[in-house]
Amino acid sequence: MDKKTVGLSDNFKKNTAPKSFIKNPIKGTKFTIAISSAKGGVGKSTFAMNFALALKSNDLKVGILDADIYGPSLPKMMSINEKPKSEDGKSLTPVDQYGVQCMSIGFLVDEETPMIWRGPMVTSAIKTFTQKVLWNDLDFIIVDMPPGTGDTQLTFAQEIKVDGVIIVSTPQEIALADVKRGIKMFDKLKVPILGLVDNMSYFESDDGKKHNIFGEGGVEMLCKKFNKEFIGKIPIDIDLRTAADNGKPLVEKNPNHKISKIFIEMAKKIKGSFL
Ligand SMILES: Nc1ncnc2c1ncn2[C@@H]1O[C@H](COP(=O)(O)OP(=O)(O)OP(=O)(O)O)[C@@H](O)[C@H]1O
Ligand SMILES: [Mg+2]
Repeated sequence: MDKKTVGLSDNFKKNTAPKSFIKNPIKGTKFTIAISSAKGGVGKSTFAMNFALALKSNDLKVGILDADIYGPSLPKMMSINEKPKSEDGKSLTPVDQYGVQCMSIGFLVDEETPMIWRGPMVTSAIKTFTQKVLWNDLDFIIVDMPPGTGDTQLTFAQEIKVDGVIIVSTPQEIALADVKRGIKMFDKLKVPILGLVDNMSYFESDDGKKHNIFGEGGVEMLCKKFNKEFIGKIPIDIDLRTAADNGKPLVEKNPNHKISKIFIEMAKKIKGSFL
């Protein structure tokens, strides 16, 4: 009896093969650094704003792109209430605040309007923000990512030249489990991870005692396991939180604060690895 082999047609294989994407740099910028973590609420946005201002204080030209379409934090954390201008009706001019160029979907909708958008619309908004915003001669653009490993992360990883990702985590088990997924995603998509930050690492009481509220050493352990750089620790600090809530990040409000100095040191280290 004739043996029949069943195979996939060449056309089918071609149509279902993984697409190869062209990674476009964000126009008007030298380096793109994404601040990410698959987990929500670990301090990505707080880190992104303060880190961007810390880079600025290291004499660099910096922009912040808020890529969190469903839950933008930039307008509140940077106290921006104005709409970006468009000279030609096609491109958007970023809003300048504290010497940093800023863009967020939150500039275009009011604070209480929910973004009820499907994935392709999110992808298209990200493309607009990376290709149609007139970022002006930036050394670094800091991208504040939403939580998860969804459309936004995938668009950045596949279609935009991301020079490095900084992963922010808190030390407790439940956060670390998600962070592992985040690390694996960027590794798989070949986006370089610059290192991990241990945020809300400990709380220092008035007597100088350190309390490891969310556990200890988890982020450093992940770094060892996945062979990643440990960038450093940021403690739980009420001034950091209130400054973010009041629209002037701590590094800008008080550059001599001990927490601001941690950010400025981290920024110096990252600057040194690029320039
Ligand atoms: N080290 C810290 N000390 C004190 N408060 C902090 C610290 N880091 C972040 N916070 C506070 O925790 C809250 C959550 O932070 P933030 O919004 O930056 O997290 P996120 O990871 O961006 O959240 P989301 O996943 O929703 O985007 C904010 O109120 C922020 O001020
Ligand atoms: Mg955020």
